Amino acid sequence: MPDRAPYDLLLRSGTVIDGSGAPRVQADVAILGDRIAAVAPTGSIAPAQARESIDVSGRVVAPGFIDVHTHDDRAVIDGPDMLPKISQGVTTVVVGNCGISLSPLTLDRAPPPPLNLLGDQSAYEFPSFAEYRARLNRVVPGVNVAALIGHSSLRIGTMADVGRKANGGEIDAMRRLLADSLDQGAIGFSTGLYYKPNAAADADEVAALAELLADRGGVYATHMRDEHDKVLDSLEESFSTARRARVPVVISHHKCAGPHNWGRSRETLPVIEAASKTQPVGLDAYPYTAGSTVLDPDHVTGDIRIMVAWSKAKPEMAGRDLAAIAAEWGCTEKEAAVRLHPAGAIYFQMDEADVRRILAFPLTMIGSDGLPHDSHPHPRLWGTFPRVLGHYSRDLGLFPLETAVHKMTGLSAMRFNLPDRGLVREGHAADLVVFDPAHIADAATFEAPKTPSRGLDFVLVNGRLSWRAGETEVDRAGRLLVRG
Ligand code: ZN
Ligand code: CU
Repeated sequence: MPDRAPYDLLLRSGTVIDGSGAPRVQADVAILGDRIAAVAPTGSIAPAQARESIDVSGRVVAPGFIDVHTHDDRAVIDGPDMLPKISQGVTTVVVGNCGISLSPLTLDRAPPPPLNLLGDQSAYEFPSFAEYRARLNRVVPGVNVAALIGHSSLRIGTMADVGRKANGGEIDAMRRLLADSLDQGAIGFSTGLYYKPNAAADADEVAALAELLADRGGVYATHMRDEHDKVLDSLEESFSTARRARVPVVISHHKCAGPHNWGRSRETLPVIEAASKTQPVGLDAYPYTAGSTVLDPDHVTGDIRIMVAWSKAKPEMAGRDLAAIAAEWGCTEKEAAVRLHPAGAIYFQMDEADVRRILAFPLTMIGSDGLPHDSHPHPRLWGTFPRVLGHYSRDLGLFPLETAVHKMTGLSAMRFNLPDRGLVREGHAADLVVFDPAHIADAATFEAPKTPSRGLDFVLVNGRLSWRAGETEVDRAGRLLVRG
């Protein structure tokens, strides 16, 4: 009876929020192979037309979430189930953000911060993006992967001294590496101009690389030079660099950091909006008032709470506040940071009103910026997407659920040029999440960060039912995504 069952799976009687921002509809969704084969009014597809049928009444069926800002470069090959992400409904991660990518780079020494966020020297084992891609294809991660190439990784691979601007020969070498990586399937380029291995690069150097994206449909994402006092200058630099290179730009994890910049999203968002009228501009944000990155003693200013996320020198200090450690050791916080080094930290550096204003801004996508290798990670690693859907959309009413879903699906796929993802549409990839809109919620906290979210039923990746609520095993079906 193969002609009686043209579909592999039918999701029956659900509420479809399709990712475009359009209002929800009651519909059945049929899947064949790795594609969405039909989206039709409830009841119009008989269960007998599918080999398997699941009643999802009372549940939302949405496109799988796209985590546009991750540092999962190594996690997708070393911990390929990707439980922190798939248990939130994430079906695609964009790796290589903030100027740091695992490839193309090999190292003969310990990776300098912030490259150590991805792993130690042995993790950097991919001299080309093609080799990274081959590993991914062999491993088959639980989620899809789209990759940016990081400027810091390129600089460290080609320059003897990253403390200065690259010379002509070095720029040529980086351009070759970036062009090859793009031709091998990377979707774009990222900078982390805030960080030491990247900071000496001026706008000319960045534009000389970013311009390679223009004819290839790539995207430029930037962790800007300054998210503190000079945040407006940094926005201007980001927009002008992208204009010169004729490429779309994404401002990563937009924030106004440091207590005396709190409230300044009232200034930054109109500037971003104005730029978006004349050039392609996007931005991402995570739903918390704390950030997280390496613990740099130079950035310990004493005016905010800092929590240790990991420490190579004193691993037992993970999860404790820097101020308490300093008090116990009878030293300043800066000295404590030096003694913990190399280390990572969580910085309580943002204002809740700014976070809400930025999340609600129409161009803002959701990206977790989770750090999967930290021993006591920021809770964004496990909780970002349900926190936007539950806490910010449902509980606070910051925006409708349709808008929340759009910010993590359709908008993201459009911005990152992943054309058959991010929507519940016939012909699109069958990356889908089914959740209970009344109960979806993050459960990870700063004290207990590795806590799975609640209210999700199951997740499909490329048509495969990969994960169900409560399960710790993942039926992996992710792949590398290339540009449209
Ligand atoms: Zn960053
Ligand atoms: Cu980041």
